[in-house]
Amino acid sequence: MSEKKYVVAIDQGTTSSRAIVFDLEGTPVSSHQMEHEQIYPQPGWVEHNPMEIWSRTQDVVREAISTNGVKADAIGAVGITNQRETTVVWEKATGKPIYNAIVWQCMRTQDFCAKWQKMEGWEKKVNDLTGLVISPYFSGTKIKWILDHVPGARDRAAKGEILFGNIDTWVIWNLTGGPNGGVHVTDVTNASRTLLMNIETLKWDKEMMEFLDVPEAMLPAIKPSSFVYGHTVKSGPFGAEIPVAGDLGDQQAALFGQTCYDKGEAKNTYGTGCFMLLNIGDKPVRSKNGLLTTVAYGLEEGKATYALEGSIAITGAAIQWLRDNLRLFDDAPDSEWFAKKVADSGGIYFVPAFSGLYAPYWDMSARGAIVGLTRYITKEHIIRATLESICYQTRDVQAAMDADSGVPLKALKVDGGAVKNSLLMQMQADVLGVPVVRPVVSETTALGAAYAAGLATGLWKSLDELRKHWKVDREFDPLMVAEKREELYSGWKKAIEKSKGWID
Ligand code: G3P
Repeated sequence: MSEKKYVVAIDQGTTSSRAIVFDLEGTPVSSHQMEHEQIYPQPGWVEHNPMEIWSRTQDVVREAISTNGVKADAIGAVGITNQRETTVVWEKATGKPIYNAIVWQCMRTQDFCAKWQKMEGWEKKVNDLTGLVISPYFSGTKIKWILDHVPGARDRAAKGEILFGNIDTWVIWNLTGGPNGGVHVTDVTNASRTLLMNIETLKWDKEMMEFLDVPEAMLPAIKPSSFVYGHTVKSGPFGAEIPVAGDLGDQQAALFGQTCYDKGEAKNTYGTGCFMLLNIGDKPVRSKNGLLTTVAYGLEEGKATYALEGSIAITGAAIQWLRDNLRLFDDAPDSEWFAKKVADSGGIYFVPAFSGLYAPYWDMSARGAIVGLTRYITKEHIIRATLESICYQTRDVQAAMDADSGVPLKALKVDGGAVKNSLLMQMQADVLGVPVVRPVVSETTALGAAYAAGLATGLWKSLDELRKHWKVDREFDPLMVAEKREELYSGWKKAIEKSKGWID
């Protein structure tokens, strides 16, 4: 047996898949990343091809472990983290999906959700049972949609012939053998995003399953986030049997990687969307201000640490939209260079409500809007306004968190790809009026999954040991005067109102 020196994290995100090899100091030693296709069959609909995701996942693992000569027998554990809520339904016997993956941003169940919201008592019941709100965002109505639209699917699901999984479940099932004995499992954080798990008992909820007409036989077993679920198979991308021992939804993984283990600690992750999570301890306190109650992580069977979450659907995705749909630049990081060419956004606001507005508004009727346009406005202003929209949306959820917790945020820990953009981070500190703290390892999503896997296999002994790895790279202090900050933010609130009510 050779010495275990590494933990590999697979981060399967909305736009790309990535594998990162970490050493036992929590330092990345090699990584590989590949984008996959975004499929838009209709306005507001978003799909992925699950087979493409599995194939990219294998490619990035092979590439990441071969680059620095990492030997499979030196890998002590594998952790998975994933875009949450995205829904895959597949045949157990063949491993073939019966429909494309319906992505978390997809709005196809909007009409169903609008009717559901009007049903007496259900909004409160959903929040009481699951900690969530009625929205197309979560997996539950997406599973229902597939079972309603693929002939024979519901009957086959009831017999256990077809399986449901979020992307974590899909990847773990394939890594552990697929049709040849793959483990059908999820963790408490991912399960807490389905509308099907009871947030108090951490078990599948009968009432929710009945209402959405989802048979329990198709649902994965719910396990802790740090747990040996199974082993990779020799025929898979690792070419060896390694414990798969960590599983967290990507936002919860980022909280875990940022070592926010104490009540009151928060982080914001800048990816396709932005997601601010605040650790609220071992009780699932409900929000009065439009935040979700979610599981932050579970380290033991039947137990959980909870978080309040402010979910923003479109932040990095708006930059990607400028790049791919408007073709304003070739590479996302160029947005910083263009935005710096102007001193401000020229009085415009861009509300990127492409999938409606999530927290704290939860308005499915909203759609994207650019307001305040004059002939003075250039491409650079639009790019700058897009970066500003990331900061204003984050301020919206920060305000909700301050109101819910009663304790104003003192500083914000940030992570994710976009935090390398120092202009964006300075703007964020200015808009929030509190320091923004960037850690040395900004890919804390993958790090969190690695930590969970390493804890389950004894490579790391305790949360305290992990805390020691966390180091500040740079702190951005607010430079804008308070009056200016409030004046600009009140313009944003007006712009938000303009985006609402676009779809009936
Ligand atoms: O809830 C959706 C979220 O998990 C997506 O994260 O990093 O792919 O934007 P990301």
